[in-house]
Amino acid sequence: MLKDAYHRAIKDLRISVTDRCNFRCIYCMPQDEYEWIEKKEILTFEEITRLARLFIRLGVDEVRLTGGEPLVRRNLEVLIAQLSALEGLRDLSLTTNGSLLTEKVEALTKAGLKRINVSIDTLDPEKFKRITKRGDLSTVLEGLFAAKRCGLDPIKINAVIERGVNEEDIPILVEFSREHGFPIRFIEYMDVGNANNWTTEKLVPKKEIIELVSARYPLREIGRENGSAPSVDYEFVDGRGEIGVIASVTEPFCSSCTRVRLTADGKFVTCLFSQVGHDLKRLLRTGASDEEILEVVGGVWKKRQDRYSDERLEALRAFKYDPKQNKKIEMITLGG
Ligand code: GTP
Ligand code: 5AD
Ligand code: SF4
Ligand code: SF4
Repeated sequence: MLKDAYHRAIKDLRISVTDRCNFRCIYCMPQDEYEWIEKKEILTFEEITRLARLFIRLGVDEVRLTGGEPLVRRNLEVLIAQLSALEGLRDLSLTTNGSLLTEKVEALTKAGLKRINVSIDTLDPEKFKRITKRGDLSTVLEGLFAAKRCGLDPIKINAVIERGVNEEDIPILVEFSREHGFPIRFIEYMDVGNANNWTTEKLVPKKEIIELVSARYPLREIGRENGSAPSVDYEFVDGRGEIGVIASVTEPFCSSCTRVRLTADGKFVTCLFSQVGHDLKRLLRTGASDEEILEVVGGVWKKRQDRYSDERLEALRAFKYDPKQNKKIEMITLGG
């Protein structure tokens, strides 16, 4: 089996289908304009499916579609249908801001989508607008319940927690999650991309989140799904649901990281904090054979030494971390 320099297999492929988004979340994409990828550079559904098939040959068995906002890509259900027909794929999911679910979720489900994660950082409509700049909470909630009616399961909620912005929303989000059966994951604010002005002061650590929730609703730790998921999960002792915390800053999980990313313009990226990607589109569009592409991907993976979040924690502990030191690829390009 293909392993990287730290013996990590290649298992989860996160595919960004577009770098565009109809929101401008303060922690992700705060500027109005970016250097957008040109239309002709965006991989076609056929190109994406071919690459997914090749990644499966190397060991991938889970695909997640992301963006930007994946649902702004037209006819996404066509891609879902192509991917869900691939042999060897155990799980096909999507991470979305939820704004276009009401109109699109039925077609996506019919095409074979089984589960989704929806980002909702607050249930206060005004704050939601402040955080997402262009989002409307009621439209997102409408989409969330439309997805439930379509039978997607689980539908998880992602909430990025930022100090001074939404830490007091945690209990309200927990109650909503318990009442409606949507598992929720609280995400430590990360220094992704170059534009979000991350500082440690904005971070609400996992420990604090767990103390806050368990003071009201006692929790029992379940652990990481498959031993490698970013989220550490907990169940409520009273049996009414689950929460998770994705603590990539205070409890990094690089040692078990089996994730790989494909950007909308066909770059293969081995870490969320990478500074460069490896161009697979050029290979696709210059007639490379499957074997040639496999060789390039395999060669990069074998040398992979990424452990950015582990290194960040070491540097933070030594008071030596400067988030601006490395110019990273923007998260909208990378797909989270
Ligand atoms: P599940 O399969 O449902 O557990 O989804 P997921 O948590 O893997 O994916 P999702 O798109 O919902 O991402 C949730 C959060 O985890 C986002 O903030 C991602 O940026 C973060 N995340 C996912 N994978 C990684 C990773 O490899 N490294 C880091 N540092 N963060 C990650
Ligand atoms: N820190 C943590 N999570 C983030 N996301 C976007 N930006 C950040 C950040 N700076 C999350 C979104 C979405 C997922 C793909 O990544 O909320 O749920
Ligand atoms: Fe768009 Fe998601 Fe980034 Fe918000 S977090 S700006 S919804 S891609
Ligand atoms: Fe994987 Fe990089 Fe995230 Fe570490 S920081 S878990 S190596 S993607």
